[in-house]
This record gives sequence, C-alpha cells and structure tokens, in this order.
Amino acid sequence: MRRKLAAGNWKMHGLAADLAEAEALAEAHPSPGCEVLLCPPATLVGRMSAALQRTPVVVGGQDCHAEESGAHTGDVSAAMLADAGASHVIVGHSERRTDHGETDAQVAAKAAAAHRAGLVAIICLGETEAERDGGETLDVVARQLAGALPAGATAENTVIAYEPVWAIGTGRTPTEAEIAEVHAALRAGLPEHMAAGTRLIYGGSVKPANAAAIFALPEVDGALVGGASLKAADFSAIVAALDAAAG
Ligand code: 13P
Repeated sequence: MRRKLAAGNWKMHGLAADLAEAEALAEAHPSPGCEVLLCPPATLVGRMSAALQRTPVVVGGQDCHAEESGAHTGDVSAAMLADAGASHVIVGHSERRTDHGETDAQVAAKAAAAHRAGLVAIICLGETEAERDGGETLDVVARQLAGALPAGATAENTVIAYEPVWAIGTGRTPTEAEIAEVHAALRAGLPEHMAAGTRLIYGGSVKPANAAAIFALPEVDGALVGGASLKAADFSAIVAALDAAAG
C-alpha cells in the first residue's frame, strides 16, 4: 500500500546543461513501478518541471520558507515551488540544520507551509556520529520526529527520510540491522493516523552497489539519494533496484 519512492537530492549542483541527466533518467524509466523524484536547486525547478512534464518523473524543491511571501531576501516559498511545477519539497535536511541552524520547530513550520501549498513534505532527520556512539540514536530520531511533524501531517502529504548525518556523503552506511531498527522505531513513533501508510525512506551513501540490500529491508520504502542522483546512469540503477524490490 505504500508506494516506493526514489528521490534524488541534487543539493547545490546543477546547471542548465545537467537537465540532460534528468531527461535521460526519465527516458530510462518510462513506466517505473515506484515514484521517481528529482530535487534540483531552486534555479532549475521550473525548467526541470517543464522538461519532465510528459514523463512520470516528478520534481521537488530542497527547502522552503515557512511563510508564503514576504520580506525574506533570498528565500523561496512553498507556493513558489508549487508554482514552478514542484510536487514535493525536502525540509530539515541535516545540511540545512547545520548550515542554517534550523530547529525541529522551524522544520515543522516549513513542512506545514509545504502542506498549505499542496506539496508533499519530505522531512529529514537522523543522528550525528557522536549521538550514535553515545547510544542516543533512537532517542534523537524520536525527538526529531515529534518536533518536526506538523499538525495536519498525513500519510499522503508527508514522507520521513532517515538520514544519519555521518552517512551522508561519506560512503559509510549503517548496517542493515541498524537501518531496520531505526525505521521500526520511527514507524512506532508516528501518530496513529499516519502509522500504517507513511513512507519511511533511507538516505546516506545509497549507491547502485548497496541499494538492493537496503531496499530489501521491510520498513524501507525507498531512498533519498545525494551524489548518486546526479548522473542518470547511477540513479537509474537505484530506481531499477527499487522497482525490483517493489515487485
Ligand atoms: P549522499 O547520497 O551523497 O550520501 O547524500 C545523501 C543525502 O544527503 C540526500 O539528501
């Protein structure tokens, strides 16, 4: 019942020439069994949405402001992303939390703004290496989940992405048992009305070589992929692995 999701986060990478990668990805998956999403930088959301319009690949933003409009130089609102063709937006990525000091309360406000604009919010959370070493992982993610999930969140308008900070961009991943443990705890921590239907995806050094093993875990409903989403060939292999896991 939970449709698998392969989401690519391009982070601060991508110029107009890179739209060819998005088009190649769409050509490689004309009718994917899972949902395929690319989140380019805000400058490319409109052009990528136009380029992928007649394909099943959808487009999202990487962050949004909590307000719909206002005197916030440099920020982009959820309504603007929706207007540019986005259907999803990532909120609370660890790089936003680190670079911009975003708190769980701010992430919840951003997710609520996404919902008001009709976007699916992909809420990111995950422990640091020190927190894992200190045995605090389950407490940390439970606190982040409770703090970052806005009122009005549903299984349809919200995806939770578990991204251990120490696994992002490092080539290191938790063991399969560790991923399964966190995903099970997250599902148990969801409010009753979201518990069964909410998609829980894993992010952090997902590559073609490890995707199938991660997707075989029962509580993993897909992936949020950074570096390996930039090239169609790599991301395509990950989408194929998810399709295979979806059966
Ligand atoms: P990498 O796949 O490059 O580790 O990045 C993961 C991530 O942060 C996706 O949001």
